Amino acid sequence: MNKKFYITTPLYYVNDILHIGHAYCTVAVDVLARFRRLKGEEVFFLTGTDEHGQKIEQAARLNGEEPQAWVDRIVEEDKKLWKRLNISYDDFIQTTQVRHKDTVQAVFTKLYEKGDIYKGKYEGWYCVPCETFCLEGQLVEGKCPECGRITEKVAEESYFFKLSEYQERLLDYFNKNPHFMMPPSRQAEMINFVKNGLKDLSVSRLGTKWGIPVPFDSKHTIYVWFDALINYITAVDYLKEGEKFKKFWPADIHLVGKEIFKFHVIIWPAMLMALDIEIPRKVFGHGWWTVEGEKMSKSKGNVVNPHQVVDEFGVDAFRYFLLREVPFGLDGDFSRDSFINRYNADLANDLGNLLNRTLVMLEKYFEGIVPFPGSKEKTDDDLISLIQKLPSNLDVSLETLEFHSAFSYIWEIVNFANKYIDKTAPWKLFKENKERLQTVIYNLIEALRIVSLAIAPFMPETSEKMEKQLGLSHQKSFESMTWGGIKSGNKIEVKDREPLFPRIIKPEK
Ligand code: MSP
Repeated sequence: MNKKFYITTPLYYVNDILHIGHAYCTVAVDVLARFRRLKGEEVFFLTGTDEHGQKIEQAARLNGEEPQAWVDRIVEEDKKLWKRLNISYDDFIQTTQVRHKDTVQAVFTKLYEKGDIYKGKYEGWYCVPCETFCLEGQLVEGKCPECGRITEKVAEESYFFKLSEYQERLLDYFNKNPHFMMPPSRQAEMINFVKNGLKDLSVSRLGTKWGIPVPFDSKHTIYVWFDALINYITAVDYLKEGEKFKKFWPADIHLVGKEIFKFHVIIWPAMLMALDIEIPRKVFGHGWWTVEGEKMSKSKGNVVNPHQVVDEFGVDAFRYFLLREVPFGLDGDFSRDSFINRYNADLANDLGNLLNRTLVMLEKYFEGIVPFPGSKEKTDDDLISLIQKLPSNLDVSLETLEFHSAFSYIWEIVNFANKYIDKTAPWKLFKENKERLQTVIYNLIEALRIVSLAIAPFMPETSEKMEKQLGLSHQKSFESMTWGGIKSGNKIEVKDREPLFPRIIKPEK
């Protein structure tokens, strides 16, 4: 049976349209999902929207719409963006769907009956933009410790989840599963947080109407985070406890931003422990993007819409930049200058030129027919040995979500191949040593075939364009990344040969 791989993005709030920060996480998950499919694994890639809570309700009302109508409109926008970015999700969950409401209510009831949820009174503060409860001592100058905005005072009857009871079990779990929280740099803070003592968590609101009602006490709605986290089991049919759940749960990776890491590594595992369900294998907390050195915000007017980037540079340049520019896990800065620099250097120059130069030579020296390799030299072996290491290098890099190093391995080959052309000087060989020229051109075409395959998870459109230009039929499998797959004697027709990445001329400053 094929290995399974269940991976998720966070559910995006629908208070506004998505920006590059949201696209970041989704593109990263898409790359991992495509990579695992390439390896023949059975992948379940889940994304969706977090639609309840005060924040969404307020956004809808401010725009003069009913929450549901507002939500439906934003969801359509989100889906358009995912289509544009070639996001290959298998399921799109919305927290207002019946399947989810049923699951959340069943979980709430189960935990109430078990005694893990009880009724009490919450007195403290609530941050609507973060949808979090803040205790008096946590406020910073009276404001939310996370986002620095004004919080609301709350004193109301509430249901509580006995988070405090899970302190020891969580610590024990962290201890026994050192790869659960990634990257490792995020572990110490979480461990300390738990060690400092966990408080029971308020999991219902009285004043918020836009939410899932507590099934046995409908004047309360369920706290939006308690509701949203459950999506990860709703989508694999937890309630039915059928084949899908058995096959895919536990999730292999929850990919989330650093500010919501805590919900995923502390609250969510405690909820699962209470339900007697296995804990996800890994939660990865990625970093945040600033734009031209500043935090993105509506009030600053610097929020970057991914559609605009794609309009200008194309989808794959965007996907490339997001994952190449910054080691995953660290914060990064999105600037027009660095985008154009990378685009011109790595994509237009290195990759685009390599393909173009090689195909022009094939046409000129062999009328487009892939030659049989002739005599061999050391530099050929060096190229081949780099390529032979690629599958395992990609495996290792993507296992630890080091996208930038996966790219380095691919570009090592691209750069080597460009130098190989300069070194072997095919224009001289054409006059002096035709047999040797056959080897060189064969090797270049074969290297490009493998590069086109290796970039498929990252840049699916570019991969297809390359395949077309190389006259390859759809050949996507991890195994075909082995040397020698291209057929000598085949003619590569000149068609659709526009540059992969036309160079961008930077305006003079
Ligand atoms: N709805 C919750 C998640 C619930 S998951 C059960 C939520 N939604 S969100 O829309 O506010 O954020 C979704 C993701 O976008 C988070 O992982 C967050 O880190 C990410 N980003 C939002 N702004 C970002 C940047 N500027 N940079 C990188 N990622 C950022 O939280």
